[in-house]
Amino acid sequence: MKTLIVYDSFFGNTEKIALEIGAALGERGEVETLPVSQAVPEKVGGLDLLIVGSPTRGFRPTEATSKFLNSLAKEQLDGLGVAAFDTRIALETIDSAVFRLVVDKGGYAASTIAKALKKKGGNLLAPPEGFLVTGEQGPLKDGELERAKEWARQLWSLVQGKINR
Ligand SMILES: Cc1cc2nc3c(=O)[nH]c(=O)nc-3n(C[C@H](O)[C@H](O)[C@H](O)COP(=O)(O)O)c2cc1C
Repeated sequence: MKTLIVYDSFFGNTEKIALEIGAALGERGEVETLPVSQAVPEKVGGLDLLIVGSPTRGFRPTEATSKFLNSLAKEQLDGLGVAAFDTRIALETIDSAVFRLVVDKGGYAASTIAKALKKKGGNLLAPPEGFLVTGEQGPLKDGELERAKEWARQLWSLVQGKINR
């Protein structure tokens, strides 16, 4: 099984999640984990799984992430298993009730990424996933790396099911 993980990260939290997912999948197959600055459409070939992750900034993915997704050809992901994740602020760490509501209702990067991946023909294997940080610049909330590992294992099972069908 061959997986490509493309991620963006300003403060290192999304990178940690991406590397954890990569390590979990790497125990079972071939994985490349690439910062979005190095990701080009040509990398998306011969894959079984493409995972894209970004920090949520202003309710959406980073500009570099959106640019990468837009750079993919119209039907480039046809039939390919895809998944999306983001990092986001843990709501309970926001003091202001109004701000908490705004952040909660504003939306998150992973949904936008998932939509873009589907638009390019990708077969979304799991709901968009969010991993939590406890401050604007992190760190990750306790247990999130373990949750990322578990998420990766679930994705692996889903892809395996499709490959062996
Ligand atoms: C300019 C800016 C905007 C942000 N906007 C959001 C947001 O809309 N929703 C949210 O949950 N977190 C938001 N955050 C928190 C980020 O999600 C957090 O910085 C990110 O998870 C850290 O990931 P990184 O270390 O990979 O950059 C924002 C942070 C910054 C600095």
